[in-house]
Amino acid sequence: MPMADGREQIKMAEDVKFKVSIDGIPVEVSPGTTILNAARQIGGDIVPPAMCYYSKLQGSGGKCRTCLVKVSKGSEKDPRPMPKLVASCRTTVMDGMEVQNITSPEVMEARKGVVEMLLINHPLDCPICDQAGECHLQDLSYQHGLASTRYEFERRTFDKIDIGDKVQLHMTRCILCYRCVFVADQLTPQRVHGILGRGDAAEISTYIENAIDNEFSGNVIDVCPVGALTDKTFRFKNRVWFTKPVEAHRDCPTCSGKVTLWYKGEEVLRVTARKDEYGEVEAFICNTCRFDKKATSDWTIEGPRDVKPTSVISLNHYDELAPPPVVKKSLSLQEANKDQFERAKELL
Ligand code: SF4
Ligand code: FES
Repeated sequence: MPMADGREQIKMAEDVKFKVSIDGIPVEVSPGTTILNAARQIGGDIVPPAMCYYSKLQGSGGKCRTCLVKVSKGSEKDPRPMPKLVASCRTTVMDGMEVQNITSPEVMEARKGVVEMLLINHPLDCPICDQAGECHLQDLSYQHGLASTRYEFERRTFDKIDIGDKVQLHMTRCILCYRCVFVADQLTPQRVHGILGRGDAAEISTYIENAIDNEFSGNVIDVCPVGALTDKTFRFKNRVWFTKPVEAHRDCPTCSGKVTLWYKGEEVLRVTARKDEYGEVEAFICNTCRFDKKATSDWTIEGPRDVKPTSVISLNHYDELAPPPVVKKSLSLQEANKDQFERAKELL
């Protein structure tokens, strides 16, 4: 049989697909795909939450543990389950792998624990936080959080720090996900901030208060999953659910110029990159588009942004808890989520 040349070998490798099942739903993905991205190819409720992974930032993931899943079958060749829950953003699939996310009470219980950990130092200042309504930790707390804390020690607190003239760092809210560090590393020519210290002393800091001063620095605001990095031009101006998001673009020499304008009446209160269903930006935008173009005449308006009907932005309040069908059918999952159902009832 003639040997396949290099290009044919690459083509053959591209054609290889691994069969995986996540919460019983089959999907075929390329080798090297992570469990999280395989789940995103299926979509919907079985996609694990991700607070630190960001598909557009190389090396992200593996920090927050919100994406834990159970691998109940390792692969076709070695069907043994993995002994511990694994971070789905960092674990690649094997052929024949079977994964459980929302069908595993163990995963749901572990996720509750992760949320409790993340909230140890994170203040519940959602009523005054600009990220409220768009905060992934707020959503997770609503879904998995406890009504009270078991933590009795003093919490970490920090003074607010100005990072440049447009971005404010509220370190008390930071969950050390590293996304902003990757943005500075990968999108800007010089990185002047990072995580200093370790363990309980770890904090985001600019080296000797250096400002992040370059055209793409504003993207740290968009990637921050909580309200630790906020837009000083928008701070305390409005609640996000009172604003109207509109898609617009301009001919920008620096970035794609594709943005979302957030209106209150006739006024553009803020400009952000467009985000996908996982809260990740579609394309990073420059500071000129973000901070300096706040007149409607600067933009070509495309139309209202499509907002999920369940989003607090479109509804003005949280929707009634609608458990996915898999939870409705399983008594053990209903039991595992009992607190959540009760809390939802109280809120109605
Ligand atoms: S400031 Fe925000 S983006 Fe940066 S590490 Fe903290 S939580 Fe993550
Ligand atoms: S998203 Fe996987 S560890 Fe944070």
